[in-house]
Amino acid sequence: MNEKQRLESQQINQSNNPAQKKEKDYSQYFQTVYTPPSLKDARRRGREEVKYHNDFEIDEKFQGMGIGRKFYIRTYGCQMNEHDTEVMAGIFMGLGYEPTETVEDADVILLNTCAIRENAENKVFGELGHLKSLKLEKPDLLLGVCGCMSQQESVVNRILEKHQFVDMIFGTHNIHRLPDILHEAYMSKEMVVEVWSKEGDVIENLPKVRRGNIKAWVNIMYGCDKFCTYCIVPFTRGKERSRLPEDIIQEVRQLAAHGYKEITLLGQNVNAYGKDFEDRDYRFGDLMDDLRKINIPRVRFTTSHPRDFDDHLIEVLAKKGNMVEHIHLPVQSGSSDILKIMGRKYTREQYLELVRKIKAAIPDVSLSTDIIVGFPNETDEQFEETMSLYREVGFEIAYTFIYSPREGTPAAKMKDNVSMEVKKARLQRLNDLVNELSREAMKKYEGQIVEVLVEGESKNNPEILSGYTRKSKLVNFKGPKSAIGQLVKVKINESKTWTLDGEMVEELESAEVI
Ligand code: SAH
Ligand code: SF4
Ligand code: F3S
Repeated sequence: MNEKQRLESQQINQSNNPAQKKEKDYSQYFQTVYTPPSLKDARRRGREEVKYHNDFEIDEKFQGMGIGRKFYIRTYGCQMNEHDTEVMAGIFMGLGYEPTETVEDADVILLNTCAIRENAENKVFGELGHLKSLKLEKPDLLLGVCGCMSQQESVVNRILEKHQFVDMIFGTHNIHRLPDILHEAYMSKEMVVEVWSKEGDVIENLPKVRRGNIKAWVNIMYGCDKFCTYCIVPFTRGKERSRLPEDIIQEVRQLAAHGYKEITLLGQNVNAYGKDFEDRDYRFGDLMDDLRKINIPRVRFTTSHPRDFDDHLIEVLAKKGNMVEHIHLPVQSGSSDILKIMGRKYTREQYLELVRKIKAAIPDVSLSTDIIVGFPNETDEQFEETMSLYREVGFEIAYTFIYSPREGTPAAKMKDNVSMEVKKARLQRLNDLVNELSREAMKKYEGQIVEVLVEGESKNNPEILSGYTRKSKLVNFKGPKSAIGQLVKVKINESKTWTLDGEMVEELESAEVI
């Protein structure tokens, strides 16, 4: 961390005396540390060079801090947060803490939060309510809130006002400061708030404790510069900055050497990878082409924005091998007018043209998507366009959401004439269509042999193993425990709406495996 960042990361200590707290105007505490979401400021984001660091280490004075103590991290939100949790777990372990699976057992509890929709935030506030009693029983317990919600001033204010038992709040740009933040929390016994409004540099050598040894997440970039008008992410995750290809390639090689079978490349908008490099012309297609040559069976990525999905990338994906035939391509709406107000920067026609190109290059591709229904003032006709686009593309699965206004985003200021009742009815109709097409897609697998990466025993029945196909279909089947962690062939006997049932088979030379 450089000196400038150090200055920007001024810590704020709050007295724990509730009487005193009530009189405070909290905004004064954020002047140097925190800026609330401001589209104007965010758009003025500097193109200043991103600094890459390789010098993370746990300061001598913190070593052993966690000996005899246990940590618990509850993660909300997307894979990016899941992966941040792996990094924080790595830091905890480096400090000597042990992990625990139960909150009652923990000496430190972190809630790694998501701000994408209101219900995501409500869940966290609900959980804070539950944890309050635990904190009262165990005053030495440290309770922290981190992740995307912490990057919002309104959330931090609410915690300061109503949840004074919280010990630490820190944001998404400074998770590498966890040892200092914990130290401060132990020393002062006052609420420690450390949220950076300015996005951090890229720190390469943070420790990680990955969940499992079969599949791994690999960040390829951080932040988002797309500013879709409904979305909070560009504010909570900062500007787009790409990791250097050599660092990504080295990480993937190491994962392959350790026996991992599948990696998922992470970024809010992976197709923008490399746009920020000034010294080289190297984009997402180039990265995928390099990863294609590494001996790891499956490479996935999420999430790709249709706008930057270029022909070179399609060409590389069509080479197959470890490039799987599944693309998650969020469309959000089938109406060009709504897409325009959403700031997605493509039309219905452009999206359909992209799909046509992808299908031409990869005829057996499986497409999935994200859709928002009930965007402000969405008309019945515009919603019908989403329905017809869904069928036209033939998506196999979708994550569907009712629009949720996010404070500070442009859409949150729009007047909305659509009632919640109408929005719910639209969501229901869309979900019926999603189910119908998923069922149809799954039916086609009956009698086929698929390649499954076996992840473990099925949750409901230890006799049954489960894993995913290349196209991300969940398969349950009978097979020996020794298959866990392996790629095996499974013959599908029965399809359901979301899952496939089958039995493991020996490789049949003549059979086609999908
Ligand atoms: N970067 C990804 C999306 C990340 S957020 C992309 O652009 O595709 C995951 C999904 O949450 C989005 O695709 C969108 O469908 C949904 N989402 C984001 N903001 C939302 C909001 N304010 N209300 C409802 N859904 C939202
Ligand atoms: Fe949000 Fe995705 Fe749009 Fe970025 S590209 S603003 S993360 S919806
Ligand atoms: Fe949520 Fe932040 Fe991910 S808002 S979806 S956890 S980037």
